[in-house]
Amino acid sequence: MAKPRIAVIGAGLMGHGIAQVFALAGHAVALTDSHAPTLASATDRILANLRDLGEDVTAVARVRVTADLGEAIADADYIVEAVREDLSVKQALFAEIEGLARPDAILATNTSVIPITDIMGGLKKRQRALGTHWWNPPYLVPLVEVIGTQWTSVAALDFTLRLHADIGKTPVLVKKDVPGFVGNRLQHALWREAIALVENGICDAETVDTVIKAAFGRRLAVLGPLENADLVGTDLTLAIHRTVLPAIDSRPGPSPYLEKLVAEGKLGMKTGEGFRTWTAEQQTALHARVLKHLKAALK
Ligand SMILES: NC(=O)c1ccc[n+]([C@@H]2O[C@H](COP(=O)([O-])OP(=O)(O)OC[C@H]3O[C@@H](n4cnc5c(N)ncnc54)[C@H](O)[C@@H]3O)[C@@H](O)[C@H]2O)c1
Repeated sequence: MAKPRIAVIGAGLMGHGIAQVFALAGHAVALTDSHAPTLASATDRILANLRDLGEDVTAVARVRVTADLGEAIADADYIVEAVREDLSVKQALFAEIEGLARPDAILATNTSVIPITDIMGGLKKRQRALGTHWWNPPYLVPLVEVIGTQWTSVAALDFTLRLHADIGKTPVLVKKDVPGFVGNRLQHALWREAIALVENGICDAETVDTVIKAAFGRRLAVLGPLENADLVGTDLTLAIHRTVLPAIDSRPGPSPYLEKLVAEGKLGMKTGEGFRTWTAEQQTALHARVLKHLKAALK
């Protein structure tokens, strides 16, 4: 059976990498972006990634770039959107897609945290719409969270889970469409406490990161928290929670410490300072360290 034809909308950080993964797995991929220079550089970026990974560079020939949204999606079986994280932009885009796509095409959004219901709620055929949350870089991180809404059909979810398993990803089904899905809820629960530890003078930012990287971060890739709870015992976990949970941050909104950093223009690496200061060399070294680690984990 022919492999489903894929259309990827948005050729930025995530979109070009998603297109690359589908193409490498043998799918014909159409890639589009409203920003001409981003679209123009997309195949070069895919080629550079394939070379760097030692993968088959001829896969890039399966990626067809076009500036025309209708042309990109007209014959697609599966359409995934990776444009910027803005609810109204995504809503308007899917309204347009609905008018141009085949009636049986599956429509997916790669939003990081916005409920799929909010993005897809205005569509006429909501049973074919869902979320697929990939992680950056898409060609190095295996997980794809597949999120349905109250309207999504079982057939659309099954198709999408199988599609992503077949291209070598690790798809998981998220049963309720909640903000942040599973991965970003877990990740940002940790970040909230990380910020609170600094805000409350318990340690500095570098120490937070060292504690994680030199302790439970070492285990996390092979031992999830609930496996770990079973390993140490749910009774011990309960005793720890009775002592620790009342003491950790549970404020519902963003930390005032984080808000102050942003207000002061301390936006992290892009301005040279955030929780810590960053020289250009330190930034380059950090990027290289993360890529090396993720590549080694693929083997
Ligand atoms: N960056 C990450 O780590 C990451 C991880 C997972 C999910 N996501 C999500 O993936 C999506 C894309 O993120 P990104 O980091 O690739 O962003 P990005 O800014 O790198 O790329 C977005 C691209 O979309 C294009 N675009 C904007 N509006 C468009 C439109 N109407 N039609 C066609 N193209 C349009 C832009 O020109 C840009 O090239 C966002 O929803 C984001 O939250 C990002």
